[in-house]
Amino acid sequence: MAFELPPLPFAKDALQPHISANTLDFHHGKHHNAYVVNLNNLTKDTPLASKSLEEVIKAVAGDAGKAGVFNNAAQVWNHTFYWNCMKPGGGGAPSGDVASAINSAFGSFAKFSEEFKNACVTQFGSGWGWLVAEKGTIKIAKTGNAETPMVHGQTALLTCDVWEHAYYLDYQNRRPDYVQAFIDNLINWDFVAANLAKA
Ligand SMILES: [Fe+2]
Repeated sequence: MAFELPPLPFAKDALQPHISANTLDFHHGKHHNAYVVNLNNLTKDTPLASKSLEEVIKAVAGDAGKAGVFNNAAQVWNHTFYWNCMKPGGGGAPSGDVASAINSAFGSFAKFSEEFKNACVTQFGSGWGWLVAEKGTIKIAKTGNAETPMVHGQTALLTCDVWEHAYYLDYQNRRPDYVQAFIDNLINWDFVAANLAKA
């Protein structure tokens, strides 16, 4: 059973004007798809081909000889997770258990927003900004390239893709504006709440 590109959880134009259909056309249809194709090519006829995506990521993490498999597998997982972190009409402050957890960890939603945005903006080069759960607490993290929290003993709750391909067509070099739009208009807090409940 080959690894597959999951469909976007919303229509391609549903995140406009914050993320255009053109960006999603390339980001999902070309970039995410390329990671899936590469992963299938790299694992074809090997024992990894029959494992789940998470099992592949954990099996090859830290193995320099399998860096290509890790990078593509982790990028497949990170992107699918990222799509689910967004929804039309999302963003703004959460409610319920997520609000309680954020207020407890950061003091306020405003402080969380500031720290999350700062992590996303200061990730040098390509990578990801995250909210993760680790050892009973939640915190902000950032990772370079394909790195992913699951291999660092963390459970991902929320991510923002800060590779240039995520925002360059819509925002050019203005990464801070893209991250602010993500926070204000796109975050799917229901998905974050479901991840927090499982953490
Ligand atoms: Fe991406």
